[in-house]
This record gives sequence, structure tokens and C-alpha cells, in this order.
Amino acid sequence: MRLNGKTALITGAGSGYGAEMARRFRAEGARVACVDLNLDAARQVAAEAGNGAAIAVQCDVADGPSVAAMVKEVDAQFGGFDVLINNAAITQHPSRTGRTPEAEVDRLFAINVKSLYHMAAHALPVLRRVGGGSVINIASVTALRPRPGMTWYNATKAAVISITQSMAGEFAPDRIRVNAIAPAVGRTPMFSEMFKDEAEADAAHDRLVTTIPLGRLCRPTDIAAAAVYLSSDEAEYVTGIIMPIDGGRLVG
Ligand SMILES: NC(=O)c1ccc[n+]([C@@H]2O[C@H](COP(=O)([O-])OP(=O)(O)OC[C@H]3O[C@@H](n4cnc5c(N)ncnc54)[C@H](O)[C@@H]3O)[C@@H](O)[C@H]2O)c1
Repeated sequence: MRLNGKTALITGAGSGYGAEMARRFRAEGARVACVDLNLDAARQVAAEAGNGAAIAVQCDVADGPSVAAMVKEVDAQFGGFDVLINNAAITQHPSRTGRTPEAEVDRLFAINVKSLYHMAAHALPVLRRVGGGSVINIASVTALRPRPGMTWYNATKAAVISITQSMAGEFAPDRIRVNAIAPAVGRTPMFSEMFKDEAEADAAHDRLVTTIPLGRLCRPTDIAAAAVYLSSDEAEYVTGIIMPIDGGRLVG
């Protein structure tokens, strides 16, 4: 019960890393707002995590009015929140840097980067009002050690790191800590979206494992454990860090 008394808003909570963070946060005693574009998926996670202390709210994080309405609803239902996890994102289909369709580049930046602007505009005032809290932005180890074919996705995650560091200094006087987690590749639904079929995904999995010193891909439980720590009072002196959860990929 390391998060007793806390209330967390987690975006992209309908799947993968976000869904596991929602489950783990409930298990640690937090109330959780599961926010996702896919309302059915968010509802399912909220129902599992449950007991009335988890709710599901639909939102497109790339759309300002949608974020404003979602924050209002979570605030109304829970009377504020003190943990914000900006986790929702999309990946890109591997392509050469100048061949990625322009519309795909725009969409990557709208969902992965501009969403943080909308969240800063609408959710940060709530954290300030309740007297502070913890913001966790989910970046990626690919921002620090890129793989080819993923230039624009990697760039969005590098922006997430820069935004995290800028915000940490700005919001420290408000007692709002801002940190990032940089996960290694994991076999979530996002992973499958990068490949044309499961056979291609299996082959990529085997190849990627050999690039990770600890010998396996990242699991949602690895990310949830880091997020619990960064949201808990144990991390009260931690802000502005980029925490790689990467099985040693950066040093391998
Ligand atoms: N899986 C990986 O290999 C990996 C590696 C490094 C970092 N990450 C990062 O971890 C985070 C979670 O990734 P995942 O693998 O769990 O992904 P996922 O695709 O399994 O889940 C992402 C969730 O975000 C939601 N979402 C997408 N667009 C949205 C929007 N516009 N508004 C609201 N919700 C939206 C989706 O509906 C989905 O439920 C992302 O930030 C991702 O970039 C993932």
C-alpha cells in the first residue's frame, strides 16, 4: 500500500504499460482514472482494478477540448488528483527518414508531444491546487539510443525528455515533481503494430532480445514498479530524472 491516499490519472490505461500501471496503482492503494481513446478497453481495466476506486474516461490526448473535458470529469469524480502519468502514445511504421508520410509525422507529434502541452494546460492546475504531486512522462530508451527506421517516433520521445526536464525546474516551487521513464522495447499491442504480421513480430522479438544485456524484453510490470516508486513519497526528493528501465540496453 505504498500509494495509499493518492489519486492517479493515467493516459493510455486501456492497454500495455498503462493498463499494468493502473492495476498496480490500485493494488498499492491509489484511486485510478483510466483514460484512453478506447473507452471499452479503459472500462475493462477499471472494472478489473475496481471497487469504485477506479473509473474510465474517454479522451483523445491530442485534442485540447477533449483533454479539458476529461480533466474536468476526473476532477469532479475524485475531487482532484496528485499523480499524472502521460503514457498514451503511438508508434511509427518503420521507414526511411525522408519517406515517412508527412501525415504520420504530424500525428506522431500531435499524440506523443502536443498532448503534454494539453495536459500542462488543463491537468497541471489541478496538481497545483491540491498542493503538489508527481508527473511521470513515458519516454523511450530509443530517444537515448535510437534504432534506424524510427526517426520520428524517436524524436517525439526525445521531446518528451526535454519537456520533462524543463517542467521539473518550473514546477518544483509548486511541489510538483516531474520525471520520465524510458522503457526498452516490450511486447505490448504497440509492438505488433510495427510489423505486418505476428511471424514478422516474432522474428523481430528474437533479434531485439540479443541487444538487451539482461536477455529479455521489457515487461509492463517493470514499468509499473518504476512508476509506483516515482509516484510514492519514497521519491519525494526526486525530480527531473530520466529513468531507463531497459535491461541494460544503454550500456550493452
Ligand atoms: N511497447 C514498447 O516497446 C515501448 C517501448 C518504449 C516506450 N513505450 C512507450 O510506453 C507507452 C505505452 O506503450 P504501450 O506499448 O503500452 O502501447 P499500447 O499501444 O499497448 O497502449 C497505448 C494506449 O494508448 C491509447 N492511445 C493511443 N492514442 C491515444 C490518444 N490519442 N488519446 C488517448 N489514448 C490514446 C491506445 O488506445 C492504447 O490503449 C507509450 O508512451 C510508448 O511510446 C513503449
